[in-house]
Amino acid sequence: MTVNRNVLTLDEFTLQQLRAFPRATGELSALLRDIGLAAKRVNVEVNKAGLVDILGDAGSINVQGEDVKKLDIFANNQFMGVLQHGISCAGIASEELDDVVIFNDPVSNNSKYVVLFDPLDGSGNIDVNVSIGTIFSVYRRVSEIGKPATEADFLQPGIKQIAAGYVVYGSSTMLVYATRRGVNGFTLDQSIGEFCLSHPDIKVPDFGLIYSVNHGHFFRYPLGVRKYITLCQEKTKANGGPYTQRYIGSMVADVHRNLIKGGIFMYPGTTDKPKGKLRLLYECNPFAFIVEVAGGRATNGTQRILEVVPTQLHERSPLFIGSGGMMSELEACFQE
Ligand code: AHG
Ligand code: MN
Ligand code: MN
Repeated sequence: MTVNRNVLTLDEFTLQQLRAFPRATGELSALLRDIGLAAKRVNVEVNKAGLVDILGDAGSINVQGEDVKKLDIFANNQFMGVLQHGISCAGIASEELDDVVIFNDPVSNNSKYVVLFDPLDGSGNIDVNVSIGTIFSVYRRVSEIGKPATEADFLQPGIKQIAAGYVVYGSSTMLVYATRRGVNGFTLDQSIGEFCLSHPDIKVPDFGLIYSVNHGHFFRYPLGVRKYITLCQEKTKANGGPYTQRYIGSMVADVHRNLIKGGIFMYPGTTDKPKGKLRLLYECNPFAFIVEVAGGRATNGTQRILEVVPTQLHERSPLFIGSGGMMSELEACFQE
């Protein structure tokens, strides 16, 4: 078999990026390699979830008060483990852990990054064989290098992200990550066990035909959101429509599709939950960063997501994210 040398693996790609910056230390490349390794391990378990006893509830409730699935815990431990044993990360925060975890060993204390993640997103879909994902966000520490990381390192506005990404465990498994220089997607080649560059320099189209929202909450959404959903339904060929509604309940899969095809994803606040469901730090911010680098936009309805200054690790936020043109249509409905 001939090896296609035109296809770059994730490692080769990050090293190539590194060569363009002779002063870079390679810590971010190492971090991404660690994340890629954890993603491969999680991928193996996700694929056999139907076969082994890993399927189903773990019998506890996480800090968000939701059922914790066994794979949530497995994924959490994989990502935490690779980052703890790596050389680039001083500490982590996870959807599954109440507090930040500061690694506090000599190597970690000298690392310049902290990582926040949602180890398994869309975990309600595990039992029914629908795509799920992992989301991650990387910040440079604001605390002193050489000392243990602090909570302040994690409570930075999203604009300060150095990198962000996600893994989607779907019909194929992909890792997509963004730095300020661009968004690139890698598909897992199972035959060699490597993520290979398949979607270079992803840009989100300014308009798409897809809107993604939980319609069941329609009557609990703010008026502007209801107006926009109605507009999506009223669209005709003459004014760029009709739009198609797609929502599978795994944000990673929903936003990934809209990123590639163009579209808008909304998780608004409701009358009973004004801040919605999604978490600012490890769901909204990483996707806001990725989508903005790809040319789209993300807000909480009144403010750019990336400029929100967080006060709590697990705080929630409404989220509107996607193609720039569709975000403008939505904002016009808010202003009416
Ligand atoms: P998680 O599995 O990490 O708790 O996140 C699930 C999230 C998100 O992925 C998805 O878009 C949303 O929950 C679906 O919520 P609804 O069922 O309320 O629409
Ligand atoms: Mn999630
Ligand atoms: Mn989760």
